[in-house]
Formats: sequence, structure tokens, C-alpha cells
Amino acid sequence: MATAAAIRFFELNTGAKIPSFGFGTWQSAPGVVADAVTTAVKAGYRHIDCASAYGNEKEIGDALKKLFAESVVKREDLWITSKLWCTNHAPEDVPKALDQTLQDLQLDYLDLYLIHWPVSMKKDSVGFKPENLSQPNIPNTWKAMEGLYDSGKARAIGVSNFSSKKLGDLLEVARVPPAVNQVECHPSWQQQKFHAFCKSKGVHLTGYSPLGSPGTGFIKSDVLKNPIIIMVAEKIGKTPAQVALRWGLQMGHSVIPKSTNEARIKENLDVFDWSIPEDLFVKFTEIQQGRLIKGTAFVHETLGGYKTVEELWDGEL
Ligand code: A2P
Repeated sequence: MATAAAIRFFELNTGAKIPSFGFGTWQSAPGVVADAVTTAVKAGYRHIDCASAYGNEKEIGDALKKLFAESVVKREDLWITSKLWCTNHAPEDVPKALDQTLQDLQLDYLDLYLIHWPVSMKKDSVGFKPENLSQPNIPNTWKAMEGLYDSGKARAIGVSNFSSKKLGDLLEVARVPPAVNQVECHPSWQQQKFHAFCKSKGVHLTGYSPLGSPGTGFIKSDVLKNPIIIMVAEKIGKTPAQVALRWGLQMGHSVIPKSTNEARIKENLDVFDWSIPEDLFVKFTEIQQGRLIKGTAFVHETLGGYKTVEELWDGEL
């Protein structure tokens, strides 16, 4: 466990330093996301987590352009991640998808580009219908990702939502090993064994839904209402969200909380000059565990690649 107060960066297997604290943009609607990103960068966030599937990269691009033009921040001082959507897994589509994201974000390069899910969907298909699913070929998609790394347009490449088995299988064939595996991770889904596996392979873990994604219709989240988190927050005079985020940093993974509310954007960033003391940190092991995002829309008993969620996660549920 890292207890030093400031945990600002984690070093990746590329040698690059990823800011430990990022800004999530999943479910930040066009219309509010530009203001949210602008507020976040002005407040001190230096890592923005994006994805083409979030449908808001154009607006984020406009916000970034303005931030650069107004000299609020320089491109080289920001870390920008984006993700390849499931419809673009064919090797010839991978560079086109990155080019579209770069065009939308108005950038020349990404700091990190991830395969969003180990799931493939038919090209140009829209939505989560079972008939859109197709058989993934991760080694082929990864070869195309390696080409993007070679080109310098993606300064690091990685994956998201990969189980230990899928990550291990990829490492067997990868010429460029993935730098990051971005997965659901918060006090109610800690995955310590899985994290240890990623670490042993030199793959950094970024935790998405670090607050348990309260407010998401299909998720029954109670992370911020967990009695242990509330007890710790009260004892050290912090909010439950700050405690959940600081727990992630002390566990050794980066966190990417989303908010479109100025006060909460600022509240969440206040996690660097204090620590959860050891006697309270151990209490987190008592929190009941469960995956919130199971990916049920990505499995079908007869269509596509994975028949069950057990198969999608290789039993890590
Ligand atoms: P809002 O955007 O209105 O602030 P996650 O990052 O785990 O996906 O969680 C995002 C959700 O958590 C959003 O609904 C966001 O709402 C809410 N949220 C963000 N920061 C806080 C906070 N400090 N306290 C309570 N809820 C928060």
C-alpha cells in the first residue's frame, strides 16, 4: 500500500507517467461536457479519459482547442486517453477510428489508446442489439494497435475490460505489451488478485466508475452510501467520494471520476495532501464485493463471441 500523501503519477511500461487522477467523460452529455472539461482543466485536472462511444469527443475537442488557445494548459502537459469502439476491430478500421478520434478531439496524437472491450460488433452497426455482435479476433486488432504505437499517433496502447485470462492471452502474442488495462474498480469491486496479476505483468490498472457510477440507470450503486466509507469519511473529515478516490490512489491504480458539477469536480480533486491511515484502510477489506457493470449486452447464447457473462469475464465476476 502506498501511503505517501502525493500520488500524482504512475509509471507505465513505456516509461511515460500517467497522471493518477483523470477526468471521466462517460455519460457527460454534449451540451455540458465542454464546460465540465474546461472547469476540470482550470481546476487542475491533467488527464482526460475519452472514448468515441461516449458520443462527445467533438465537443471535448472544441473545449481543448479553446484551453490551448487561451494558454490555460499546453498539449504536452495534458494526458488524453481514448478508446477504439467494438465496431472498428477489423485491422483496416483501427487506424481510421483513431484518425476520426484525433480529428474530433483536434489533436495530433493520443497519450493512450485502448481497445474499449474485448468484444467485436459488425462494422457500422449501431447500438447493443445481439445481431450486431461478431466474433472477436483480439490478436489481429492488437497488431493494428501496435501499428498506431509505431506511428506515434498513440504514444501508449492498452486495453479495457480485459479479464486476467484475456490479458494473459494477449501478452502471449503482443509485440508491444499493453501499457494499461482500464477496468471497473472501486471499494465495492476491488479485485485485488486481478490487480496483482496486472501488476506482475507490468500492466497499469486504471479504475473506471471509481465512485460506483451513482446516477446510472442500469447500475444499482451504493458505493458512496457504504457504511464503512461513510465511517472513514466522518473520522477523517472528508467526503465519501474523496475517500473512495483516495482509496484507489493508495491501492496503486489511477482513478477517473466523472462529474459535470463544478463543486463536485473540485471536491473530487482534493485527494493529494492527506491519506487514509492504515487502521482505517484495512477496514475496506470488509466491504461486500460485486461487479456493477457486467456487460450483459455483449453476450448472447447463439450470436457473437461470448455466450455468457462468465465467458466474457472468464469467471471473474
Ligand atoms: P455529477 O456529474 O452530477 O456530479 P463515476 O465516476 O464512478 O462513474 O461516477 C459518476 C457519477 O457520480 C455521476 O453521476 C456524478 O454526478 C456523481 N458524482 C461525481 N462526483 C461526486 C461527488 N463528489 N459526490 C457525489 N456524487 C458524485
